[in-house]
Amino acid sequence: MRFDRFGSVDQLALRPVAAVVLAPDQVRIRVTVAGLNPVDWQIVESPSLAAAFGIAVPAGYGNDFAGVVVETGEAVTRWRVGDRVFGGARGRAVASSVVLEERHPSLHRTPDGVDDLTAGVLDIAGRTASAVARALAVAPGETVLVGGAGGGVGSILTQLLVHAGAQVVGTGSASSAPFLRSIGAEPLTYGEGLAGALRASGARIAAAADLHGVATALAARELGVPARRIVTIESEDPPAGVVSVNGSDAHPGDLQRILALVVEGRLTVPIAGVYPVERFSDAIAQQRSRHARGKIAIVLPADPPASVADASG
Ligand SMILES: NC(=O)c1ccc[n+]([C@@H]2O[C@H](COP(=O)([O-])OP(=O)(O)OC[C@H]3O[C@@H](n4cnc5c(N)ncnc54)[C@H](OP(=O)(O)O)[C@@H]3O)[C@@H](O)[C@H]2O)c1
Repeated sequence: MRFDRFGSVDQLALRPVAAVVLAPDQVRIRVTVAGLNPVDWQIVESPSLAAAFGIAVPAGYGNDFAGVVVETGEAVTRWRVGDRVFGGARGRAVASSVVLEERHPSLHRTPDGVDDLTAGVLDIAGRTASAVARALAVAPGETVLVGGAGGGVGSILTQLLVHAGAQVVGTGSASSAPFLRSIGAEPLTYGEGLAGALRASGARIAAAADLHGVATALAARELGVPARRIVTIESEDPPAGVVSVNGSDAHPGDLQRILALVVEGRLTVPIAGVYPVERFSDAIAQQRSRHARGKIAIVLPADPPASVADASG
C-alpha cells in the first residue's frame, strides 16, 4: 500500500513493488495481518510528522504487523523460515512482505497460543499502553480515570490497570458503556461537566490518563489530582506539569508481557474491525472515525491480490 505525496489518504493504492535482495542480517516476513493506528494516516497528512519518523515519499503505510519468516539472510542466526513473528515496521507494514534486520528491536517471536490477529495489532497500542501504565504507577485499590478507555490504546491500558489492582473509570460515548464494562472499566460519558459528574459519582480519582485531547487531564486537575499523576499521550500542549508519554517509552519485553496475559486468558486485545486488504479505504475510514472500540486489522492474502498483479501489467 503506497502513497506518492503528502496530503490525503484518498491517494493510497495497492501497487507492486520490487522485492529487495536481503542483506546478510535481514529476514523477509510474509505479512498476514497489519494493524492500523491514528499515526498511520497522520503521517500521510503531515510531512513534518513523517520526517520525525524518517519517512520520505514515495512511502508505504502502516506499522503493526504479524506474519511468518519466509527468507533469512545468510548470516541470520536468530530466525528460521517458518517462525511466527510480529512487531512494527514503520511506514511499510501493509504489504505482502516486510524486510527487517534480525535483531531489530521491533521484531518479536509470536508466542504459542496467540493468533496473528492479536499479535498483528499490538505494536504501537501495546507499547503505548504499557508506557502509560508504568508512568501511572498505580497502587492496588487506587481509582484511575482513563479518558478514551475504549480505543486501541485505552482498551489495553484499562486491562493492564485492572490487572495491577486499580479501579478504572473509563470515558467513552454513551453507546460504548457495555464495551467499557466488558474490559473492566466503570463507564462514564465524556463531554461537558466531566469533573462534576465524577464528583457526583463519589469516585476518588488518584491518577488519570488522557488518551484524547485534554478534557480528561483538565477534569483530573479540577478534582485535585496532582499533575505528576496525570499522563497524556496526545496533546502537544498539555496542562502544566502533566506527564507526556510516548510508545517509545515502553521497555523491552512489554509486548511479551501483554501477550503472556493473553495466553493466560487475563487480557484480550479487542478487535473493532477486520478488513481484507482490498478494502483498506474502509479500514482507514473506521480508524479515522475516532470511535473504534479496540483495534482495526487488515488481513493480507498469501498471494498479492489480483488488483496488484493486474497493475504490474
Ligand atoms: N504518543 C504516542 O506514542 C501515541 C501512541 C498511540 C496513540 N497516540 C494517540 O493517542 C490517541 C489515541 O490512540 P488510539 O489508537 O487509542 O486511538 P483510537 O483507537 O482511534 O481511539 C478511539 C477511542 O477514542 C474515544 N473517543 C472519541 N472521542 C472522544 C472524546 N471526545 N473523549 C474521549 N474519548 C474519545 C472513542 O470512544 P467512543 O467510541 O466511545 O466515542 C474510541 O474508543 C490518538 O490521538 C493517537 O494519535 C499517541
